[in-house]
Amino acid sequence: MQNVDRRNLLLGLGGLYGAANMTNIGSAVAYPITAPDDISDCVAATDGVQDPDNAVRGVACCPPPSTSAPKNYVLPEFTELRIRPAAHRLTPEYVAKYKAAIAAMKALPDTHPHSWKQQGKIHCAYCNGAYSQVMNGHPELKLQVHNSSLFFPFHRWYLYFYERILGKLINDPTFGLPYWNWDNPTGMMLPAMFEEPGPNGNPRTNPLFDAFRDVSHLPPAIIDLNNRDDNAGANCVDQIAANLSTVYSQMVTNSPTTSDFFGTNPDPKVTPKVGSIESGAHTAVHIWVGNPRMPNREDLGNFYSAGYDPAFYVHHSNVDRMWQIWRDINPYKNLDPSDDDWLNASYVFYDENEELVRVYNRDCVDIHKMGYDFENSRLPWLQSRPTPRVKASNIAAKSIGVVKKVEEIKFPLKLDETVKVLVKRPETKRSEDAKKKATEMLFLNGIKYNGEVFFKLDVLVDDVDDGVETTPASSEFAGTFSMVPHNHGGDKMLMTSGAAFGITQILEDIEAEDDEYVLVTLVPRAGAEDASVSEIKIQLVPTA
Ligand code: C2O
Repeated sequence: MQNVDRRNLLLGLGGLYGAANMTNIGSAVAYPITAPDDISDCVAATDGVQDPDNAVRGVACCPPPSTSAPKNYVLPEFTELRIRPAAHRLTPEYVAKYKAAIAAMKALPDTHPHSWKQQGKIHCAYCNGAYSQVMNGHPELKLQVHNSSLFFPFHRWYLYFYERILGKLINDPTFGLPYWNWDNPTGMMLPAMFEEPGPNGNPRTNPLFDAFRDVSHLPPAIIDLNNRDDNAGANCVDQIAANLSTVYSQMVTNSPTTSDFFGTNPDPKVTPKVGSIESGAHTAVHIWVGNPRMPNREDLGNFYSAGYDPAFYVHHSNVDRMWQIWRDINPYKNLDPSDDDWLNASYVFYDENEELVRVYNRDCVDIHKMGYDFENSRLPWLQSRPTPRVKASNIAAKSIGVVKKVEEIKFPLKLDETVKVLVKRPETKRSEDAKKKATEMLFLNGIKYNGEVFFKLDVLVDDVDDGVETTPASSEFAGTFSMVPHNHGGDKMLMTSGAAFGITQILEDIEAEDDEYVLVTLVPRAGAEDASVSEIKIQLVPTA
């Protein structure tokens, strides 16, 4: 009976949840993801580790034991905001301070909750199945913070404590964790401080150095935010343009609503969908930095090992900044999730005083209340809307009879090779007013893929040549679904997700607004041997 559904007991007592929920109980039982009170209820994490025997970082991811249960965390008072600076613009003094903090962290004994090793393990525990959902009444389900709306808040809290720990180690409560400004051309390289030589000219004496990075992607290589393995020869002007358009698509076109940006709550009753940044630029940076010659693409290329590279936190500092910017660029429409399951989801961390604390999503939605902000940086991607390769191609109409329509296809549809399909639009020739009220979205639901390998799928709309020439700078490139290796739980390797792509602007730009059908091309780029999709459709989604 230990595993009896705690929530039902609480509901029965009329406790935690308000009357609004009670009236609706049949259809909406609360399901806030809750990390276990008892952190020793943790097992070695192997999910998504393709080669556990060769897992150089080890899969024993459980935190040091605690003698007490976590206390609910209260955001402390502060006198000065911590400002997170752009990593490529740091002064030498700031770099020195940051290096000193990491060096101090690395000097702690491995068993210390603030040590480099324990901080790295946090990611492995929450991302590779070390905890179960026992607090949700589902001990058989693993707790996973990716591929869902927990992605932004979990990492925000993770970095919050990491930053405070670093500040404490150097006795500077104003220390702000730098962000890797990969959305700005001047920040599109791995920040130099990570690779510069240490005290005696040896890179290994630099505390920011990590032996497990892709050596072909060290500075001055320009990052590829779309992981196109076929564009190694791309010139830097094209690469920068493609990166800016990639960020534009993920922050604007493919994020018109809350669930498009955040993904859905992990709840067995909810159709899973991942947020645009998580499955896009976020994954790309992980894969780009991780070493492809390592058995599990350590460090950044696998969730179990990502937290061992200091660059991980600087990358996620920018991911966290993307959340803030998404809200700021459209403050009346771009809103955080407001449902109770999301607000009440919680995680457990050791704070900078080595106290075990429980933190809730609802307390991390205001970075100023959390005591930090980001140094400003230009947002050139806001002016980087992709441009059409071909206008008014009429390709969908020309494909009728050659390419199957969605209703003629047997689902699930395998994605082990490029597939084309015609998808009918709910309406054509939409008025400006109608476009303002609802966005036209292409949905891929029930994407199944092997969570143990890097998986990437490109999605093209009305493309004339199957993606051979089409880059993220082209309107026809609707977006990408890609995942860092990990596992969602259960005993199968197959993970399920979903994605949505905004096509209102695309159809305007390529002059296809009168077309009855859209030609959708799905191009698997990596890890797609077992991949399939169970539904493809276009729907009008009301905007807030
Ligand atoms: Cu928890 Cu970038 O991942």
